[in-house]
Amino acid sequence: MTDPGSLKDWRFSIDEQGIAWAVFDREGESQNALGRRPLEELGQIVGRAEAGARDKSVAGLVFISGKDKGFIVGADIREFEQFQTEAEVSAAIQPVLQMLDRIEALPIPVVCAIHGVCLGGGLELALACHWRIATRDDATRVGFPEVRLGIFPGFNGTWRSIRQAGPMAAMEAMLTGRMIRASTARAMGLLDELVPSRQNLTWAARKAVQRGRKSQPAGAAMTALRQWPARGLLVSRMRAETAKKAREDHYPAPFRLIDLFAETGGNLKQMKAEETRAFAPLMVSDTSRNLRRVFRLSEMMKAQAPKDLDFKVQRVHVIGAGVMGADIAGWCAAQGFEVSLQDLSPEAIQKGIEAQGKLFSRRFRTKATRDAAKARLLADPKGEMVARADVVIEAIVEKVEVKQALFKGLESRLKPGAVMATNTSSIMIEEIAHGLADPGRLIGIHFFNPVAQMPLVEVIRGAGSREAEVRKGCAFVTAIDKFPLIVKSCPGFLVNRVLAPYMMSAMERLSKGEAKERIDEAAKAFGMPMGPIELADTVGLDVCAHVGRILKYPADGSQLEKLVAAGKLGKKSGEGFYTWKDGNPIKAEKPYDKAELAKLGADLVGPLIAEAERALADGIVENADLVDAGVIFGTGFAPFRGGPLHYKASLGSGEGVDVRRVAAE
Ligand code: NAI
Repeated sequence: MTDPGSLKDWRFSIDEQGIAWAVFDREGESQNALGRRPLEELGQIVGRAEAGARDKSVAGLVFISGKDKGFIVGADIREFEQFQTEAEVSAAIQPVLQMLDRIEALPIPVVCAIHGVCLGGGLELALACHWRIATRDDATRVGFPEVRLGIFPGFNGTWRSIRQAGPMAAMEAMLTGRMIRASTARAMGLLDELVPSRQNLTWAARKAVQRGRKSQPAGAAMTALRQWPARGLLVSRMRAETAKKAREDHYPAPFRLIDLFAETGGNLKQMKAEETRAFAPLMVSDTSRNLRRVFRLSEMMKAQAPKDLDFKVQRVHVIGAGVMGADIAGWCAAQGFEVSLQDLSPEAIQKGIEAQGKLFSRRFRTKATRDAAKARLLADPKGEMVARADVVIEAIVEKVEVKQALFKGLESRLKPGAVMATNTSSIMIEEIAHGLADPGRLIGIHFFNPVAQMPLVEVIRGAGSREAEVRKGCAFVTAIDKFPLIVKSCPGFLVNRVLAPYMMSAMERLSKGEAKERIDEAAKAFGMPMGPIELADTVGLDVCAHVGRILKYPADGSQLEKLVAAGKLGKKSGEGFYTWKDGNPIKAEKPYDKAELAKLGADLVGPLIAEAERALADGIVENADLVDAGVIFGTGFAPFRGGPLHYKASLGSGEGVDVRRVAAE
């Protein structure tokens, strides 16, 4: 039988047993996203299935992906930008909701066969089907990542997930946006059946159609939780849990979802009717626009890695097993690379390797995969494996002569084509490269501390670094699942350069008598993940003082220098600006005036924004978007504000979140 119409993003066929197969394989894209055209074509498919069900020519419908790697990554967020008003959002959503209802109402079995990621709108489509099968493959994950974009599920995923999984599990999934493994999702009720691998999917889907499988909604106990007073208790717990992770004034989406559940969770029909009303304002909010911008920036950074390179990384050699080197080595091993770790001190190597146990336990669930990661990370005190490495990263003491001597001894031992990089945080690349036979080979690959948590890695182009080496550096950083940012060699590169004036001016306020707690609270009220004074203590006051000197901040007599001289280095020594207990600073918290905090917060980030503007003007990074991306992913700068330069521009245009305005409300 032929396709309905001429489909571009789907393939449709009906086999001899009357099973209709709708294979999603979006044209010209590596992943399936539910954009306008795929949805229109899906409408045609549903129409064809309805007609086939009526005339008995179609016995069942199966949705499956034609891509190797994933089912559906979600709605196509590139298309979200076209919406300016809530009415436009509602108008665009209504036909999709109706179509999902039609899928659910089909009188024939409708099966969704999932391999790889099935997220957001993809999971909402799956939930409208009668039976959901997924592979147990490690790459298979379902979830509702919408909150990360400042929205919540808007294709009726709210009530359908609650219907299937009960309010506790479904709301938790929607509120956290976490990626859920197939086995967990099945236990929750979001999936119905698991198969070992992709090869088993078609067969299992066929069987499910033939047996007329129909998923059961959540049981009575779960349904009871939707009623008052149980719902009231759940709601207050959800609010408390969510408030621990996000501030309502910065990230309203999860709180609006809780409101929706509080108001309508007892009656899913009502929840269905109300979802769009609660969803549409979020979709057109500045917060969501900015979070979508951050998502695009992250995609842009990943795209920086050249795809045309004849450069493959298998082995990484790290020299220096201190704070940074050990964690860089551990991260690379966790990403599947063979890693050798060198240090003058065998004890440092051993300690550094042992410390990676924590990362491996977090990342790998089975002992076998943890052991495999451990086996990939080798001690190499003499640096014997240098010659085999595709990437060599130096992370030894921050002394230019020591680094120069190391690279002089190293460069002739590297294999041709291998990347030679330094993790220096403050020395110019060209200075380290001075005296090398091939100085153009050296680049900076600058990780941030803690390595496992910081998504950004600066790839530093020294004055003499060859472009090809910089490109290889980007390819490597992408291969280890970090975001590369190409930065010109300059004091502080980008991230430390913009952070320094922000932190130094905060310390100046402190020495003028402003309370440290108030400063830190104001920065958090602005949206920084941690206040500047607590950050200084966390980074280490010796490190801050060092960066300050590099960037030529007057140090004489500063409180920072005094603390360092007294051995008070912050968190690591137990005392700095704060006294630290069990890894936390002891704070004297007071109730602060919201408007005053907002004003102080905006003032605190002023020097950071000004420095970001100067860095752009100096051409340190290629364009303004990349400056914003670097500052967001390197410092945690309030993602919902879209980056320092974007934030500044939006203040001027009257768009965007004006802290003064918010505070006044
Ligand atoms: P660290 O002092 O913790 O570790 C340095 C390690 O290098 C020590 O174990 C030492 O034994 C070893 N080492 C010294 N000379 C060596 C040599 N010639 N050959 C082999 N091993 C040698 O230092 P940390 O903090 O890990 O810093 C390392 C580098 O990373 C520095 O260049 C620093 O600027 C940079 N960096 C540090 C960050 C931080 O937050 N600590 C952040 C980003 C970069």
